[in-house]
Amino acid sequence: MSKRFYITTAIDYVNGQPHLGHAYEKTVTDVIARARRSFGQEVFFLTGLDEHGQKVQQAAAAEGKTPQAFCDELAESFRSLWQQLGITNDDFIRTTEPRHKEFVQAILARLHAAGQFYTQTYEGWYSTKEETFLTDKDRRPDGTFDPAYGEVIKLSETNYWFRLGAQQQWLIDYIEANLSFIQPDYRRNEVLGFLKSQKLEDLCISRPVARLNWGIPLPFDQDYVTYVWFDALVNYISIPATLGDPALAKAANSEPGTQNSRLSLWPADIHVIGKDILKFHAVYWPIMLKAMGLPLPKQVLAHGWWQKDGAKISKSTGNVVDPVAVINEWGVDAFRFYVLRELDIGPDGNWTDAGFKARYQAELANGLGNLVNRSLSMLKRYRSGVVPAHADELAPDAEKVVAATRARLEASQLQDALLAIWSLVNRANQYVDQTKPFSLAKDPAQAKRLDEVLYNLAETCRVLAVLLWPFIPGTAAKIYAQLGLSGEPSQFNAAKWGGLPAGHAIGEPAPLFPRKDQ
Ligand code: MSP
Repeated sequence: MSKRFYITTAIDYVNGQPHLGHAYEKTVTDVIARARRSFGQEVFFLTGLDEHGQKVQQAAAAEGKTPQAFCDELAESFRSLWQQLGITNDDFIRTTEPRHKEFVQAILARLHAAGQFYTQTYEGWYSTKEETFLTDKDRRPDGTFDPAYGEVIKLSETNYWFRLGAQQQWLIDYIEANLSFIQPDYRRNEVLGFLKSQKLEDLCISRPVARLNWGIPLPFDQDYVTYVWFDALVNYISIPATLGDPALAKAANSEPGTQNSRLSLWPADIHVIGKDILKFHAVYWPIMLKAMGLPLPKQVLAHGWWQKDGAKISKSTGNVVDPVAVINEWGVDAFRFYVLRELDIGPDGNWTDAGFKARYQAELANGLGNLVNRSLSMLKRYRSGVVPAHADELAPDAEKVVAATRARLEASQLQDALLAIWSLVNRANQYVDQTKPFSLAKDPAQAKRLDEVLYNLAETCRVLAVLLWPFIPGTAAKIYAQLGLSGEPSQFNAAKWGGLPAGHAIGEPAPLFPRKDQ
């Protein structure tokens, strides 16, 4: 049993419909997972939902539903969007499932027995909206708290706390010694800046049942439930543990899985998350894992946040992008392509409908779509769709792009990979303009030259299908089908030049990205 490439996303709060931010993160993770599979690696891709906590409880109450019924309904929206988006997750965790809850309780019991938690009474200001304690440092110059905190009440509360302070220097040393642990680099520097300038406060891990009952009960004190992060972060190991991962058997003092198909997953290779939850993943999570005696994930990859038209995405102001509506109008691959091409993993991005349409028109319809359509249509028209003898004029260009794409994919540099792939699209379109196959076809003396040009174009389309598969798998499959090839272009090795055999009959060309007149 060899260890699989294990990749995860953040698990989304179930307090509303899935939005652009959720869809972007799942798409990015899906491309990395598909790329690794196409390299021949065994992959396990986990995503899911974070269902406990006050916000979910309140959102359910506002609709007059029990939290579980509310979560069950929304879970279907998330699952169905991931299906529509072509997300190839291997499992879907919901934190209200017994398999997760039992593991969280086992971990908590073990850490409690090991003296990792202590109780402390906290007296101070508390924002119910943000579920957080506030201090006088959080007051604005006029002495009031930011209205974003909602109602702020005085609270005296005893809770369980997890010791973090003693681990601060160890974590700094670890991050500095493992430069790929937090990516991109500037996000690592943010975390180091925080760790070096502020004393790490211990983490509150409980809420009294009297105030919040929608959570996992602490196994050692029934008056409390687990506060969100000790529940949510643990999803990354609870699912592997229940799938029998031997690396996790000792974490919860449980027997290694008894299932026939035991999986070896932990440590995760990449946790893909948004920048807002980096501290939880790069500071709290490593310390929690160390306390459990477990190795740390190899990488936390933090992406930026989307805005729409330069403003924060917000349900209340109606400034939203509905991924389902975009997919229904433009197709799933147009959505996947736009978010991956527009926004590199790291900085913040801005969705504009005009920008979306411009990329659709220029890069998909006129770029890739036009190349494939005219290459295959000419092969059909001039050679009855039968592939001519092998030729390799574009082979050096293709080989360079194949190598660059592979390197970028291995480094999770998805935008750069697309740029490399489009350099081949542009090169091949330019090749059509330069060689003018439509003129060659008029001169019988140029038949051999026309054969060469048509082979180069058809083979470039085939190579492009393989390179594009992780990004826009539906389109890649269509290109393969139009080339008359069976199966999916899902193995990266197939990108080697020369795979299209002479004498092979292609299928029917059809536009990949219909032009939209708007
Ligand atoms: N439940 C926690 C995560 C727990 S992980 C153990 C959570 N949920 S969330 O629903 O608020 O966010 C889920 C993911 O979506 C996060 O990685 C977050 O950064 C991402 N995004 C939420 N809004 C976003 C944008 N506007 N743009 C890009 N990603 C954003 O946090």
